[in-house]
Amino acid sequence: MRLSFRLILSLIVGVTAVSLCFAIYQAQSEVHVQRTEVQRHALTLAEGLERSVEPLLLGGSPRELQDLVNRFRNHESLAGVAVYNTSGRVVATTAGLTYPSWKAPTTIIDSLQKGWARGQFFRLEGEPMHVFAMPVRAGTTIIGAIAIFHNVAYISSYRLEVWKHALAGMGLQTILIIGTTLLIVRWSLGRPLRRMVTWLRDQRIGRTSSEADAPREDIFGPLATEVTQLATSLNAARAAAREEAILREAAESLWTPERLRVSVRSKLNGSRLFVISNREPYEHNYKGNSVVCSVPASGLVTALEPVLRACDGTWIAQGTGDADRVTADDNDRLRVPPDEPLYTLRRVWLTKEEEDGFYLGFANEGLWPLCHIAHTRPNFSPKDWDHYRTVNERFAEALLEEIEGEENPVVLAQDYHFALLPRMIKQRRPDARVAIFWHIPWPNSEAFGICPWQRELLDGMLGADLIGFHVQAHCNNFLETVDYALESRIDWEHFAVNRHDHVTAVRPFPISVAFNGKESIPRNSELSSDERAEIFRQLGVEGTYLGVGVDRVDYTKGIPERFRGIEQLLEEFPSYRGKLTFVQIGAPSRTRIKRYQDFGAEVEAEAMRINRRFQTGNWKPIVFLQRHHSHQEIERYYRAAHFCLVTSLHDGMNLVAKEFVASRSDNQGALILSRFTGASHELADAFIVNPYDTREMAHTIRTAIEMSPLERSARMQRMRAIVRENNVYRWAGSLIGELAGIRLGQIHAATKPPRYDPPVEKPAEELVKAETY
Ligand code: G6P
Repeated sequence: MRLSFRLILSLIVGVTAVSLCFAIYQAQSEVHVQRTEVQRHALTLAEGLERSVEPLLLGGSPRELQDLVNRFRNHESLAGVAVYNTSGRVVATTAGLTYPSWKAPTTIIDSLQKGWARGQFFRLEGEPMHVFAMPVRAGTTIIGAIAIFHNVAYISSYRLEVWKHALAGMGLQTILIIGTTLLIVRWSLGRPLRRMVTWLRDQRIGRTSSEADAPREDIFGPLATEVTQLATSLNAARAAAREEAILREAAESLWTPERLRVSVRSKLNGSRLFVISNREPYEHNYKGNSVVCSVPASGLVTALEPVLRACDGTWIAQGTGDADRVTADDNDRLRVPPDEPLYTLRRVWLTKEEEDGFYLGFANEGLWPLCHIAHTRPNFSPKDWDHYRTVNERFAEALLEEIEGEENPVVLAQDYHFALLPRMIKQRRPDARVAIFWHIPWPNSEAFGICPWQRELLDGMLGADLIGFHVQAHCNNFLETVDYALESRIDWEHFAVNRHDHVTAVRPFPISVAFNGKESIPRNSELSSDERAEIFRQLGVEGTYLGVGVDRVDYTKGIPERFRGIEQLLEEFPSYRGKLTFVQIGAPSRTRIKRYQDFGAEVEAEAMRINRRFQTGNWKPIVFLQRHHSHQEIERYYRAAHFCLVTSLHDGMNLVAKEFVASRSDNQGALILSRFTGASHELADAFIVNPYDTREMAHTIRTAIEMSPLERSARMQRMRAIVRENNVYRWAGSLIGELAGIRLGQIHAATKPPRYDPPVEKPAEELVKAETY
């Protein structure tokens, strides 16, 4: 109430002041116009009279002069005309003009003495008057002056009238403006404000009103977005706190983003977290005139993004989008995720030559096929090696800039793109704790020995305090490679390497997905079958059974092998013809490398060949969708599929397998998983297959589809429990915990043995063999 009174009062004062200024201005201008008009009229008259007055003044005929001036009697506001001689004495004046000669206004004197033609306002016996005086000349000599007198009392009355109108207008204006403003406030601001207050109150007291109920009015658009995010964060914090309380109550050991945040904070003891990877988590690209932000297809990004969200910190990565520069600040930084900034992304720019040599050449034509035993020959060239070294230095420089002034920073270098970086960092910042996590397999020592720069790569990695792989077998292969290639001491008991008095621990940390067993939408099998029908409808396929595969189009993923598995199934079990459709989602990847172009064409051709063989009516066995799909799009397929095929020829972990399990909150669907993936070491309830064995694959698909609902659900529940327990928060917590526990600058003889106990117990011998296949 007080607020609206104040509002009205300030409106009245404000509007009145403004209107008053306008009224004054308007009155003054109107009066000015009138006065100018009098002057103009007097000048015209004086000029007209001058010719007649001059001969009469020269001829000295006062009578005729008197007759002339008498003609100007009672002409509206014209009071009369007077003629003066050079000594300022009146020689003729209109009858009735009572202006005494000795009181000649200064303007008349100025006319006679200085030859000016001027007007002057003055008062005559209380009456407002105007006189205009003009010299009369004979040649160049002044022989007298003419004075035109106007009674200007009418201007004063006019001024009064103007004021009256202006004040009336002012009052009306004030009322109208205040009224309109109050109406606008009431309808445009008051209502949305009231809605926002109600919605906020609901949020505060925890009454669930959906996000869709949040005020979205244009005028409050930005504010509503901010408040919505605030409320979302508040709700997330509440949910996390609730979850923590439940976990404490149940004495469970589940890792959540909240637990990771708390754990990392206490373990880092004030130090900040820095992550370096080649692939960035958010890429900005132009689409027409607008900029679109997308998340690239990368297992590494899938795993690390939730960790950075939970812990803040800085992620340094290559800027690869064509709008990346315009979306970063002058220091090449931006806060991400774009809709809820939680950590910093620092972009590093590479030239085309650098990218070709470092990324396409050395990393992806050399190290990638070298580490994945998938029968593609690795290529190593000295030029690519030079670029690899230079780019590692460039990233090291960027990191050193970021950690400048930070005490004991914690650095997590990612993957085969940055083998040289740990040593570069440690040489300049021995106080930094540095780990490198290798996201791809590590082959046996003979295979790795193909690389002409194996010693430099190993030495670079051993600059780190901790080296992480997905599985123990990769750790074993790495230690054997070091043993074989470098001067160093391997501590097999503690899984560590001592080189030049620096100790590097080597540990398995099986990476995972951000799954903690909670879904925003609880699902059941009915929803899955509805979704399946919708997917079939959108694809224009009439089918019953749906299988799905999700991969980057990469020759390590065994995509043609799985197509051949489907072909074999249709051949051996014809009852599936017309019923089973396998959808392969393929994100185009590294397409500037010829091997990848050829591989894309090979997959396409294989799908077409098999389709041609079996296709009937509106059904076909294989749908190959070769484009980037968002996480939400992929989730739909995961949730609707009867089975998911992961048939990599060799894979460090493979997060598709875990994503599929995490998305099956209905406890349905079967996972068919290659034994050459890291994930197969954990997910014993998947159907484990050899992707080179087409027949085994076909029979396994059949078994997976036909198993009893009870078994299907039991398997999925067990797999979900494992993924939930070993989620990415645990991965990050263990990795950072291990790194934080290392005492810098000391040879840690008492380094602990590997922490991770794989759920599937396999003898180390067998694991080594599997990885060196
Ligand atoms: C694998 C690698 C990642 C890489 C991803 C996508 O998962 O381990 O480092 O980011 O593939 O490949 P790309 O070359 O597109 O980054």
